[in-house]
Order: sequence, then C-alpha cells, then structure tokens
Amino acid sequence: MQLIDPASVDVPMLPVPFTVRSLVRETYDTFTFSLEPLNRSNSQTFQPGQFSMLWAFGIGEIPVSISGNSADSSSLTYTVRSVGQVSKALVHLKPQESVGVRGPFGTAWPVKEACGKDVVLVAGGIGLAPLRSVIYHVLSNRDHYGRLIIIYGTRTPRDLLFRKELAQWAKQPRTNVLTTVDSSGLSWRGHVGVVTNLFRYAQLNPSNSLAMICGPEVMMRFAARELETRGLPSPAIYLSMERNMKCAIGFCGHCQWGPHFICKDGPVFPYNRIRALTEHHEL
Ligand SMILES: Cc1cc2nc3c(=O)[nH]c(=O)nc-3n(C[C@H](O)[C@H](O)[C@H](O)COP(=O)(O)OP(=O)(O)OC[C@H]3O[C@@H](n4cnc5c(N)ncnc54)[C@H](O)[C@@H]3O)c2cc1C
Ligand code: FES
Repeated sequence: MQLIDPASVDVPMLPVPFTVRSLVRETYDTFTFSLEPLNRSNSQTFQPGQFSMLWAFGIGEIPVSISGNSADSSSLTYTVRSVGQVSKALVHLKPQESVGVRGPFGTAWPVKEACGKDVVLVAGGIGLAPLRSVIYHVLSNRDHYGRLIIIYGTRTPRDLLFRKELAQWAKQPRTNVLTTVDSSGLSWRGHVGVVTNLFRYAQLNPSNSLAMICGPEVMMRFAARELETRGLPSPAIYLSMERNMKCAIGFCGHCQWGPHFICKDGPVFPYNRIRALTEHHEL
C-alpha cells in the first residue's frame, strides 16, 4: 500500500505541517512568529489581508491573519494575542515546534485598487496585524502610492504592537503615523482618546484616498462613518470582519453573517456592501 503525504495533495481541510522559525514578544499577551514548511515544496504565497487556519496540535484550530510580507514566500508570519485555549497554545510555541497550517483563505485588502491613491489605514488593537502586510507592500512599492497614513489606537500604551516598526514607518517619506490610547499613565506623551479623534490631524484627501479598517467592530463602525462624513465615498472604504470559524471554506456556516460567509466572501469587504449589517450590533 502506498502512503500519501497529505501535504502533497491540495485538500483544503488538511493542515500542512510547518515549524516555528522565530518568535518575538510584542506585548505582555501578543507574540509574532514565523513558520516555515516542513517540506519546502509546501511554501505558500498569500495576498495582504488573507488568513490561515492554524492548528495547535491536540488543542484546536483558529483563524489568524498573515501579518508578514507577501513578497517573502519562504515563511508565513502571524501575530497572535492570547485570549483563549488555542491562541494561548500558539503564543507558547518554541522554535522548531510544529503547527498545522490550512490556507491561505479569504479576500484580500485592495492594494491594486489603491495604486495612485493615498492609503489610509485605521487599526485598533490586534487589528494592526492584518494591516501590516499592506504597510510592507506600500513601502516596497512606494512610487505606486500617494501618502501612507497609519492611524492606530490601543487600550493602553502597553498594548501598542510593532513599536519599533511604527517609529521606522513614521520616518519614511510621505508617511504619517498617528497613535492614540484609550487611557494612560503620566509617562505617555501622545494622544488619548478614540481613533476617530485623530482624523483631524491626518489631512485626508477624500477624493483620492482608499481606506482600510481593522479592529473591534464598534471602532470600525465609527471609523467608517467618520470617513464617509469627511467625504470618502463608501466604495473606497474597506473593513476586515471577524467571526468564529470551523471549515474556512464555506461549508459549515459557522461564520455566517447575514447573507455572507466571512471565510470566503470576506474577511475584507467594501463598506458599501456591508454597511446595513454593521448597523445591526446583535448579528
Ligand atoms: C479572519 C480572522 C482573522 C483573525 N486574525 C487574528 C490575528 O491576526 N491575530 C489574533 O490574535 N487573532 C486573530 N483572529 C481572532 C482569533 O481567531 C481568535 O482570537 C481565536 O479564535 C480565539 O480562539 P481561542 O481558542 O484562543 O479562544 P476561545 O477559547 O475561543 O475564547 C476564549 C475567550 O476569549 C474570548 N475571545 C475569543 N476571541 C476573542 C478575540 N478575538 N478578542 C477578545 N476575546 C476573544 C471568548 O469570548 C472567550 O471568552 C482572527 C479571526 C478571524 C475570523
Ligand atoms: S467557517 Fe465554515 S462556512 Fe465559514
């Protein structure tokens, strides 16, 4: 009998074995790790905004956005906040340990549509992770884009992700980085308040901008409304949505949101397609 290597056939429900190449602590509860395939022929490419299903063996599987550079296919990078069983197991992985990976799945951020425009990224908390691959893409194709405006809010200063990179990005030409926190101690010298308060400092050019928003739903709802009020047309605003997932390929219905399955119709949606649903908080 011939044994089939599951990694050699394209079956979207079969996790492919990857190992941990490196691990970086971002905050007290959030880690970034890079995975490489056990078998190099299983290297994967992805588009900014897509996610994988990550298996912590013996515990479970969760959806996690790819937070690395889409131009580098040698590894896949993820930034995970420990909130429960599976995410906790993932952040406690050690180099060379194994993780199962399915994907990449889902729709991508509209980086092609944004060519020639200002790119406005609005992130809350862990929501900066799914947008980091857009930042890498814009910075490595700088001539194709106008200004890059990164507006980022967290609960406290200790929740800020990618601190060193935020400082480096702020030094890049035609790039603005604006951060705020909900509450802080006396040592914080930056803005305090919700992310929408920062829009007034961003000098938005609504007729030639494309906005991408990722974070808690309430923050995305207010940010999208505020951008519209400031003149951005709703088709130029994109949101990344989150729901619990099981299959990630449109079979099980776990991620259903109104008429959409977030795993295959999303997670990235143009605001004009989902605006009515975002107003129904209970969905
Ligand atoms: C498309 C997509 C992309 C995602 N990308 C990322 C990512 O890049 N990084 C990342 O860290 N997470 C990401 N998530 C969220 C991640 O999938 C969940 O945090 C994870 O499923 C939680 O599973 P768990 O087993 O660790 O916790 P569970 O055991 O399922 O939950 C434990 C407790 O935590 C609460 N909880 C669950 N999820 C969250 C949450 N997101 N925030 C706060 N509390 C929560 C639950 O209500 C419960 O009380 C993404 C989700 C989706 C749908
Ligand atoms: S997770 Fe099964 S349909 Fe989306």
